[in-house]
Amino acid sequence: MTPERMARPRHYLMCRPTHFAVEYSINPWMDPGKPVDADLAILQWERLHALFVSLGHTVEQIEALPGLPDMVFAANGATVVNGRVLAAKFRYQEREAEGPAYADWFRSRGYDVHEPAHVNEGEGDFLVDDDVILAGTGFRTDPEAHREAERHLRLPVVGLELVDPRYYHLDTALAVLAPGEIMYYPAAFSEKSRQFLRNRYPDAITATDQDAQAFGLNALSDGRNVILPEAATHLAARLAERGFTPIGAALSELLKAGGSVKCCTLEIRDRD
Ligand code: ARG
Repeated sequence: MTPERMARPRHYLMCRPTHFAVEYSINPWMDPGKPVDADLAILQWERLHALFVSLGHTVEQIEALPGLPDMVFAANGATVVNGRVLAAKFRYQEREAEGPAYADWFRSRGYDVHEPAHVNEGEGDFLVDDDVILAGTGFRTDPEAHREAERHLRLPVVGLELVDPRYYHLDTALAVLAPGEIMYYPAAFSEKSRQFLRNRYPDAITATDQDAQAFGLNALSDGRNVILPEAATHLAARLAERGFTPIGAALSELLKAGGSVKCCTLEIRDRD
């Protein structure tokens, strides 16, 4: 028997890729020599935005700033739990100015914003599974930032070590589908982290190499609908078997920067 899945309306923050480009390379997907269709990037993003709205979610937008081509990846802008915001502090100088831009957006709306001392790239590396935060490290977010998140967001944080540079953020290798249910790509993690994931999530969906390369784990679930890159067909089939409704999205242009569905979307978890 497949469980009946319930969608819960979400509050998201997105950033239109008005100034999107691949001008530098800070992950193996980025090749500044490869052409990017900027208009197509905007069109694909607008379809994703419209999809979230049609599913009943509230989507807010932050204004894209010139000179910050990766600002479209709103997931990296902060982590928000129960109305508390941990601002981001980026690893690379190219994205540094995004941290304060996102922090200001939250501050001007009355959120309690904590300025981080350690590098953390928001929901790129912090994924909330109900009452615990799964936190990536290895490429971007510092392990010290995990403790900082624990203190400010007031949830226990479990560290997971990423070992494959193609999967440099946790949200490129793992997605939370529903409380206690995840999908992930085991090869992206250290042996110790793999063991932890196997024990905590024995029924997890595991991605094939092809799913992972299609960025299939960079997915977003509302408890029922799971939006994921359309090329991740094996994952879509596994999701359907579990009673989820997989919805494929085309984001070819943003993928050239190493990002997809989840990277574009920051979840605002307001006070309970
Ligand atoms: N080009 C961006 C970077 O390397 C992509 C960020 C993708 N975001 C994410 N949440 N994984 O920083």
